[in-house]
Amino acid sequence: MKTRKLGSLEVSAIGLGCMGFTHGYGACPSEEESVRLIRKAYEEGCIFFDTAEIYSCYKNEELVGKAIKPFRDKVVISTKFTPATLPGQERPEGKLSRAGIRQAVEGSLRRLQTDYIDLYTEHRVPTENDPAEVAYWMGELIREGKIRAWGQSEPTLEQLKAAHAVTPITAVQSEYSLMERKWEADIIPFCRENGIGFVAYSPMAGGFLSGKYLSADEFKGDDVRRVITRYSEENMRANQVLLDLINRYAEEKHCTAAQISLAWVMYSGHIVPIPGMRSDTRILENLGVAEVTLTDAEYAAMNEALGHITIHGNRTDEDIAKLGTIEGSQQKVAKVER
Ligand SMILES: NC(=O)c1ccc[n+]([C@@H]2O[C@H](COP(=O)([O-])OP(=O)(O)OC[C@H]3O[C@@H](n4cnc5c(N)ncnc54)[C@H](OP(=O)(O)O)[C@@H]3O)[C@@H](O)[C@H]2O)c1
Repeated sequence: MKTRKLGSLEVSAIGLGCMGFTHGYGACPSEEESVRLIRKAYEEGCIFFDTAEIYSCYKNEELVGKAIKPFRDKVVISTKFTPATLPGQERPEGKLSRAGIRQAVEGSLRRLQTDYIDLYTEHRVPTENDPAEVAYWMGELIREGKIRAWGQSEPTLEQLKAAHAVTPITAVQSEYSLMERKWEADIIPFCRENGIGFVAYSPMAGGFLSGKYLSADEFKGDDVRRVITRYSEENMRANQVLLDLINRYAEEKHCTAAQISLAWVMYSGHIVPIPGMRSDTRILENLGVAEVTLTDAEYAAMNEALGHITIHGNRTDEDIAKLGTIEGSQQKVAKVER
């Protein structure tokens, strides 16, 4: 497996997004099967694992901690703290205070069964908070050795600059794929110019870009794709033109649509995708993309073609928060994860 640098951290060129093992994409594998799959990804060369305290309200971190325990010192753990207060974190000073953050990091360390977190990311950067303040507390945690590096998820350029000036940021984690390219305008160039890594979450746009999901009817129960608008039946049909483009390249390069989608994300060397993968087949297919590369000409031609394609629907936190309100979902609105 090829490796990439996120600032000072060396990670596999593709990481494993662990959220789906406990939440987000319908029925989850058993804990035993999830542990097996996380270890399988490691055996296949993946050394970068992403989780968050909010995923299934702490359970995802516990799962990841258990799964990676035998090889913890050989992998890079990325976890995230949410600005909102989770159960047991109530504090008068608020979650993003020094005390709130310290309490959160101690909880994550315990659940992950480790004494340091490699990459600790602010899951969202609230407009009402000063990003520089959180950055200062992150610097303190780095100096104490509790975290090795830190990041922000979905910051604006102003928030990223303000925080980076106080304690240098190692990686931004934001949604990036053939369906979501808004960060190309400012964040991605800023990261590239300043040696900041970029972790692409939902690089497969929740599976759509694999071309294997044919109808919105496939999404049941607590599957966030029931409320993400790009997965409405109508938008899936309208977005078929994007899949046609991807399939054309997959055919030419003798690989799969999923691999073309990831290869496109990975084209510029500083971006690391973290697809969710919950089967041996998906692990082998997605990690196999490290060997697939787009030439400069192919990348340019793809981008030219993409310029003529309109993407229908999107993925917003506001839509995801509606999951708890629809029939068949067990999810409580307050606990809906991003
Ligand atoms: N920072 C944030 O706010 C944020 C938000 C969302 C996610 N994340 C992180 O990013 C990670 C990845 O996000 P995501 O799960 O949305 O990524 P994704 O890879 O775009 O979507 C995962 C879905 O795509 C399917 N899939 C993946 N590879 C496939 C393939 N080769 N063929 C067919 N289907 C495939 C998976 O299927 P199976 O499940 O059946 O394998 C799963 O249903 C999460 O696990 C989480 O760690 C962060």
